[in-house]
Amino acid sequence: MEVIASPTEMQRWSERARHRGDTIAFVPTMGFLHEGHLTLMREGRKRASVLASSLFVNPTQFGPSEDFARYPRNFEGDCAMMRTVPVDVLFAPEPDAMYPQGSQTFVEAIEVTKGLCGDHRPGHFRGVTTVVAKLFNIVKPHVALFGEKDYQQLRAIERMVKDLNFDLEIVPVATVREADGLAMSSRNAYLKPEEREKALSLHRALKAAGACFRAGAREPDQLVRAARAVLESASGVRIEYVEAVDAATLEPLPTIDRPVVVAIAAYVGTTRLIDNLVLGRSA
Ligand code: PAJ
Repeated sequence: MEVIASPTEMQRWSERARHRGDTIAFVPTMGFLHEGHLTLMREGRKRASVLASSLFVNPTQFGPSEDFARYPRNFEGDCAMMRTVPVDVLFAPEPDAMYPQGSQTFVEAIEVTKGLCGDHRPGHFRGVTTVVAKLFNIVKPHVALFGEKDYQQLRAIERMVKDLNFDLEIVPVATVREADGLAMSSRNAYLKPEEREKALSLHRALKAAGACFRAGAREPDQLVRAARAVLESASGVRIEYVEAVDAATLEPLPTIDRPVVVAIAAYVGTTRLIDNLVLGRSA
C-alpha cells in the first residue's frame, strides 16, 4: 500500500491511474478503523480496478466543544487493516495541507442538513461536504462509498454530488453491526463496559419502531413514540433526538406513504451515539 500525504502528489497518482485506464474506488475515513470501514473498502475493491482510501480527522466538521482533540487515532493499526483488504493507496494528509492559511471556501448542502444531526451540530455538515468535495478533487474517484450509519451525511454528499456535477457514483453501504446489534463506530471505543450495554438501547429502540411499522402504524409520531419509550426506560441514556422523516429528502412526513428513516442520537455517559433504520423500502 502506497501512503501519500501531499494533495498534489495524490492528484498525480490518480491522473496516472486514470491514464492507464484504471478505475478508482474511494473510501474516505477518519481512521480508528473497524469492520464497518473494511466492509466499505471490500465493496469498493469489487467496483473498480484500484482502491483508494483516506485517513484524515477533519477539524472543520467538529464543533468547538466536540471531541476533535481526543478522537481515537491508531495510524499503524489502520494501515495494517487496510493492507488486508487490500487498499492500493492511502491518502493521509496533515491538516495544514488540507487547510492552508487563507483557506476560506466552503461547500454546503442546505435543506438536507436541516433537522436530525444538523440541528444539534452547527457547521458539522458544512465541514463534511467541504472536506469530501476537496477529497474528491484530490483522489479523483469514479466511485465513492459511504455508510448508511451516517445517514444524513450520506444524503448530504449525494445532494452535493448532484448539485455540483461531480462526475462520480456514490454507493451507499448498509450499517455493519456487532453480533448483538450495536452499530459499529470508532466512538464505541469511548464506552465503559457498563455503558456498552446501555448503548444497545439505540438498536432496541429502532427495532421497536420497526415492529410498530410492521404492525401497521403509518404516522411518523407512532414510530418516534415507540423508539422513545425504549430509550427512556434505559437508565443512563440521554436522548438528543428521535425523528422519523422522509428517507430521501429528510423532510417531515405527514403520513408514511414512502420510505421513512427513523434516526436517533443519544448520549451514553459523555459519548454521543447515532443509529438509524429505514422502513418501507423494497429489498
Ligand atoms: P468515519 O466516521 O471514519 O466513517 C468513514 C465511513 O465509514 C463513512 O462513510 C461512514 O458512514 C462509514 N461507517 C462508519 N461506521 C459504519 C458502520 N457501522 N457500518 C457501515 N459504514 C460505517 O464519516 C466520516 O468518517 C467522515 O465524516 C468523513 C466522510 C471521512 C469526512 O471527514
